[in-house]
Amino acid sequence: MSLVHRLPASRGLPALLLLLLAATAAHTAAAWKTAVATDGSSSSSSSSGRQLRGFWTGKSSSGSSSSSSSSSNARHVLSLSAQQRLESRTWSNAALQSKYNWPSSPYFDDPWVLDNIAVTYGHRVKDGIGSQVVRMIAVYALANITGMGHLFRPLGCVGHIGGHVHYRSSSCDFSGDSDDARLLLRARQMIELPSTIAESTVEGWEQQLVRAESFKWEKFLGELGDAVQQQQPTLFLAEHVNSLTTTYPDLFYALPQLRPSEPLPPLSCRSSSSSSSSSSSSAGMHSKPWMLDALRFAIHIRRGDVVTDGWSERILSTQYYVNLARAVTQVLEAAGCQYTVEVHTETPRTPEMVEELHTLKRGIPNAVMLPGKDLLWTWQMMATADILVMSNSMFSVSAALLNPDGISIHVPPRQAVVRQGMFKLRHWIAPEDENGTMADAATDVIRQRVGLKPQATR
Ligand SMILES: *[C@@H]1O[C@H](CO)[C@@H](O)[C@H](O)[C@H]1NC(C)=O
Ligand SMILES: *[C@@H]1O[C@H](CO)[C@@H](O)[C@H](O)[C@H]1NC(C)=O
Repeated sequence: MSLVHRLPASRGLPALLLLLLAATAAHTAAAWKTAVATDGSSSSSSSSGRQLRGFWTGKSSSGSSSSSSSSSNARHVLSLSAQQRLESRTWSNAALQSKYNWPSSPYFDDPWVLDNIAVTYGHRVKDGIGSQVVRMIAVYALANITGMGHLFRPLGCVGHIGGHVHYRSSSCDFSGDSDDARLLLRARQMIELPSTIAESTVEGWEQQLVRAESFKWEKFLGELGDAVQQQQPTLFLAEHVNSLTTTYPDLFYALPQLRPSEPLPPLSCRSSSSSSSSSSSSAGMHSKPWMLDALRFAIHIRRGDVVTDGWSERILSTQYYVNLARAVTQVLEAAGCQYTVEVHTETPRTPEMVEELHTLKRGIPNAVMLPGKDLLWTWQMMATADILVMSNSMFSVSAALLNPDGISIHVPPRQAVVRQGMFKLRHWIAPEDENGTMADAATDVIRQRVGLKPQATR
């Protein structure tokens, strides 16, 4: 077993991610279960002193059921009365309210609205797993902020599985490929959010797809206003929430599982040499008790159809990733850290892409090349890494979202704007340009997490 298989169970995994674990690869299953059990009871983690996040309410059942069709079997139901939703909505938290920029409206002070309006994810666009999960979480976060009911419905179909690209128009037919069918089933079992309202409650309600290609807050309020005026109980199928998340990226901070800890815990890694003179505080990095505890630095390089279909505006160069990786590994070296660098990417389909892997391997110290690995395993590795370099991709973004205590490095600002729906959370850092240049302030975020003094303020 190589270093990259090291189990991050003690690393304060966000609870949502724990839901991903029951269905993952057999060699990790036991440790994940331990993590779930630890979380459910005492919230204390084993070695590192960091704690697992408070779980979404509800019990986790270890035997993952094969019935994925009915959400009444949901393992994490958090049915709340309208009054309970009113009291537990994030709006009620004044401290958070003053800190974050959240959408609001007087409609949600109307008891009728809390009793008769709910949202669920629309499940119409069969996008990649990252895009879908980001949107599902956004819909839940919106309900959590406002106190509207939230109904969880399991993932329908996923694009980018195996050789399949998008399922925007075709039916979700995996019958010709049992491996892909199994992967989709695992994905369904891994992704689950709480419902605060039951499927039976919304039976007989109007079900209304929020049509706008982009879900604009004012537009949604307009449709909500119509429902209020007609006193028509309505379940909104909200799907294209991208403009909501670009306008209100703070939305995600409504969920405690997605907020960085305060203060952030140091990233621990085995020090390569106890006599390292480069860092006065490197002794503090010895917090791990046992072997195989190198820091995990993951890089997601989105290629695949982004390259073959010529979406060139989303492509960051090989040199970008090499430069950025070097900027990060220099800090790790200065801190005396042991680390591995995982390079997650698609299977190379052209000679240029094969050559690119060689360039990356040569250019990045300690790089472990992982092209074309299992989608869900890759996602899990990215979402549990200590440091993650993102691509202009919702697969990266979803992984970073799920790992608020990791260091997440977003794309350069000019890249972010070319992708519709891209957003940046305020705790993510980003390089300045397409060369992967890191400003001192951004580098300092990494330096401080591994126990080095900041450099910017000299
Ligand atoms: C919002 O999320 C918090 C934390 O998971 C939970 O305690 C609360 O009940 C949720 N409230 C609503 C209205 O969903
Ligand atoms: C990247 O680096 C090259 C070579 O140093 C330079 O000419 C170019 O302007 C840089 N590009 C950006 C976007 O900073």
